[in-house]
Amino acid sequence: MNIIKTILVIAIFHLPQVMAQDASRDFLGEINDSDHPDGYREYVELGCWQCHGFQGQGGRAAKLVDPLMPYDGFAMQVRKPRNIMPVYSPNVLSDARLKKIYSYLQNIPESPDPDDIPLLSGD
Ligand code: HEC
Repeated sequence: MNIIKTILVIAIFHLPQVMAQDASRDFLGEINDSDHPDGYREYVELGCWQCHGFQGQGGRAAKLVDPLMPYDGFAMQVRKPRNIMPVYSPNVLSDARLKKIYSYLQNIPESPDPDDIPLLSGD
C-alpha cells in the first residue's frame, strides 16, 4: 500500500514538469520559421514571449508592438531594464540576435480595426 502511495505521489509531483517539457518541445522543437517573420526563433528561444506574448501583444508584461518603440530605447530596455524585467547581456543575447528580434516585432502585421471584424460589428 505504501509503495503505491509513494508511486502516486512521485507521479503527481512530476506531472507538471513532464507537461512543461512537452510544451517547450512544441514551442522550440517544431518551430516552422517559414510561418513567421524572421527573428521569431530568437524571440521564442530567448523567452520574450513568456511575458510579452508570442506576437508581442503583451500578457504578463507590456505590449511591444502597435507601436514598437525606436530601436535605441528598445535595446536600452533589454540591456538595462528600467524595473523588474530580466537583464539580457550581450553574452546571452548578441546585438545581431537582438536586431533579429526587433525585426521580427517590426514585421508583425498590425491588428485589424475592430470595426472591420464582422463578429465584433454588432450587426
Ligand atoms: C520575466 C518577464 C519578462 C521577460 C522574459 C522579458 N520581459 Fe520585457 N519587460 C518585462 C517587464 C516587467 C517590463 C516593464 C519594465 C521593466 O520591468 O523593466 C518589460 C518591458 C519591456 C520593454 C519596454 C516596453 C515599454 O513599452 O516600455 C521592451 C522593449 C521589452 N520589455 C523587450 C523585451 C525583449 C526583447 C525580451 C526578450 C529578449 C523581453 N522583454 C523579455 C518583463 C519581461
